[in-house]
Amino acid sequence: MKKILVVSFSQSGQLSQIVEKFLTPFKGVDIDQVNIEPKKPFPFPWDTTSFYDAMPETVLEEPIEINPPQFKHQNYDLIIFGYQPWFLSPAMPATAILKNSEFCKRLKDTPIITLLGARNMWLNAQESLKQLIKEAKGELVGHIPLVDKTFNLISVITIVHWLSTGKKTKKWGIFPLPGVSEKDINETSIFGEIAEKSLQNEDFTNFQKDVLALNKIQINTSILFIESRAKTLFKIWANTIKKRGTTPKKRKTWLTIFRIYLYFALFIVSPIILTIYTLVFRPLTLGKIKRKKEYFRNVKLN
Ligand SMILES: Cc1cc2nc3c(=O)[nH]c(=O)nc-3n(C[C@H](O)[C@H](O)[C@H](O)COP(=O)(O)O)c2cc1C
Repeated sequence: MKKILVVSFSQSGQLSQIVEKFLTPFKGVDIDQVNIEPKKPFPFPWDTTSFYDAMPETVLEEPIEINPPQFKHQNYDLIIFGYQPWFLSPAMPATAILKNSEFCKRLKDTPIITLLGARNMWLNAQESLKQLIKEAKGELVGHIPLVDKTFNLISVITIVHWLSTGKKTKKWGIFPLPGVSEKDINETSIFGEIAEKSLQNEDFTNFQKDVLALNKIQINTSILFIESRAKTLFKIWANTIKKRGTTPKKRKTWLTIFRIYLYFALFIVSPIILTIYTLVFRPLTLGKIKRKKEYFRNVKLN
């Protein structure tokens, strides 16, 4: 019997739903499901202070303490790694398990599929994932990102409502629902079918190609543009906050400044820059944009 290891962490249950749908086609398979458990749980719903306080260490990928994960087996035929991006980086629980030696032993020489449920910015987080998997000598064979397809700034408003209330409902009854749509979550089983076939054939060579052929994984050009610059800025902010925030009071002040900066960048600066980019530079770089999108939709690390 084939053995698969499924590792994930979810606060609202959205990623658990995605993982569950993905697994529906796996019949007659030994599934070992492991939830990542932070020793100090993160709040959900989030309050503003805790939310921004998670930023520096998430971006600098400092591992938090987690309860030692318990695995049924030493080796697996496939590992499904479900995670979500936080601040353009893997969420802290995901980083922690990727730096856990027992988990890394299981990654070695094993096909791995990453599965994520994000707002819409996952490109940088996935680059970190690829690097960590490479360091553990795992073999990334597939990547399935599920996102909120609503207009970027609207999804900022709806996700703040969701994360701060814990309710995946329409803000004021008029905004769209936050997060990944029910339809997209349900359709994850289609990707699971492809993975199940590859598992039975012991051949994942064409897995990502078959996934992409369904034309369900798209990358928005504006998001590509934002992400190619924002992570560097986040790293500068994270280092500054850690360096200057030497007392709780100072850290709080710096996190407040970052919060103001973030809203200013999102709602004022980025619409202006994106308009100029779309009108002037984007038409001149269509080939480069296409190549970048292909790169991110695939699993290789540059
Ligand atoms: C602290 C924090 C930071 C987040 N940062 C991002 C981000 O950078 N990009 C993104 O697409 N989504 C981001 N999200 C949304 C998550 O990726 C995820 O979609 C949401 O939290 C639901 O995940 P869940 O399954 O754990 O409930 C963030 C969420 C949290 C809590």
